[in-house]
Amino acid sequence: MVNVRLTDLTTAHAGSMFRWMCDPDVSRHVGLRSEPTLEKTLAWLGRAASDNRVSARAILFDDAHVGNVVLDQIDLVTSKARLSIYIGEAEARGRGVGRRAATLAVDLAFGSLGLHKVWLTVHTGNHAAIATYKAIGFVVEGTHREEFILDGTRVDELYMGLLRSDLP
Ligand SMILES: CC(C)(COP(=O)(O)OP(=O)(O)OC[C@H]1O[C@@H](n2cnc3c(N)ncnc32)[C@H](O)[C@@H]1OP(=O)(O)O)[C@@H](O)C(=O)NCCC(=O)NCCS
Repeated sequence: MVNVRLTDLTTAHAGSMFRWMCDPDVSRHVGLRSEPTLEKTLAWLGRAASDNRVSARAILFDDAHVGNVVLDQIDLVTSKARLSIYIGEAEARGRGVGRRAATLAVDLAFGSLGLHKVWLTVHTGNHAAIATYKAIGFVVEGTHREEFILDGTRVDELYMGLLRSDLP
């Protein structure tokens, strides 16, 4: 199994996060809404750290920080949260890191956070992400028509969900 673990995301990770947000292979898929800057990255980290509806984790692959996985919109009334993930270091993609990190985040959601459901959205052309989510057990629950803008074009996005009871 790939050597992947999650650790708290802190301002120490801001530099690599900013660099990854400047990479179109990441930014065009995560729905970045404005030009990235180091200041915006630091502000995002500050908000995430002080918001109990957010659990942001750095992904360590062989002890190197290669990406992030975030549970946000944590809703303790409906007992669900949104998952998002990116592997920022290009050479770490396609090696099982994303799948393992997403699995660890789901374990966190259903384990220590005690949630009932994890959900996410992904544009229909993001085959690597869709394969990753399906491999973990997420199912497509619906299509949001023309909700995502990819390279200036409106495209459909999938709403995918995973229930705690879906897992063995
Ligand atoms: C999506 C992402 C997190 C997947 O992580 P990864 O480490 O590259 O993926 P893994 O190596 O763990 O592979 C997971 C699954 O995706 C498949 N996959 C990986 N790269 C793929 C590609 N380019 N095209 C199609 N499928 C791909 C693998 O075959 C595997 O499926 P399997 O277990 O059924 O064989 C990563 O590619 C990434 O960060 N992409 C850019 C940002 C992004 O798109 N984030 C998601 C936004 S919704």
